Amino acid sequence: MLEIHNLMVFFENALALNDFSMEVGEGEIVGVIGSNSAGKTTLMNTVSGLIIDMKIKEQRKGGERITLYGEIVFQGEDITETHPYQRVKKGLVLARERHPIFPESDVAENLKIAGHQRKKSEITEMTQYVFTLFPALSQLRRRKAGFLSGGEQQMLSIGMTLIVKPTLLLMDEPLLGLSPMMQTLLVEAIQNLRKESGITIFITEQFARPILPMIDKGYIIENGMLTLTGTGAELMDNPEIKAAYFGI
Ligand SMILES: Nc1ncnc2c1ncn2[C@@H]1O[C@H](COP(=O)(O)OP(=O)(O)OP(=O)(O)O)[C@@H](O)[C@H]1O
Ligand SMILES: [Mg+2]
Repeated sequence: MLEIHNLMVFFENALALNDFSMEVGEGEIVGVIGSNSAGKTTLMNTVSGLIIDMKIKEQRKGGERITLYGEIVFQGEDITETHPYQRVKKGLVLARERHPIFPESDVAENLKIAGHQRKKSEITEMTQYVFTLFPALSQLRRRKAGFLSGGEQQMLSIGMTLIVKPTLLLMDEPLLGLSPMMQTLLVEAIQNLRKESGITIFITEQFARPILPMIDKGYIIENGMLTLTGTGAELMDNPEIKAAYFGI
């Protein structure tokens, strides 16, 4: 469903992604695991197309040069040059790291705003689904989003991406800043999401432990380069991964 071929991203002369290739199959949960500054956000911004906007903005203000090489293919179509909003229309949706919410609006209003391009019936249907997926949010539907806890805000922000019914959901570090209990809740919700909706999921994370057991396939990224790939089980058994991510 998604193929990334030999992706290179430069910020001026600094190489953030170096000849990075990977694939996400239909219905899979795929993870890219890497530590700070490994290139995870750059990868997500490139796949979602946000980097095209960043590039244009930088050019306008005469800022740093962003250069891309390589190819991104989504459902058989080359989308390397496709604008981010058109990618969303094709079903490719990114839940950003610390995804923005509207703090002054309540939970239900936030979901409605996120779906503003969709039909009312679709918003109602997907809002209902979001509340089934995250029962805790359902209790909070009239609470101002700014008053939610970090974990609740994370659920809301993921809910906001689901409103537009993605076919491929990209999640950049969804577990960041969450307590272990909240992480477990979210991992369960992601598994349910795949099971119930058939949405394909592509996650980046620095925490391997909660992520590896749920992914079908994983890629380890270091300094923008692919260093290891395998099934979730293979990676969990790998001595290098154990040493680097599990401290054993
Ligand atoms: N706009 C930018 N300008 C210059 N360098 C950048 C820019 N964005 C990212 N980089 C650099 O690219 C590399 C990859 O950064 P990126 O944010 O993709 O990593 P990350 O894996 O998401 O890290 P984190 O875990 O901290 O979120 C880093 O060395 C970073 O400094
Ligand atoms: Mg990041």
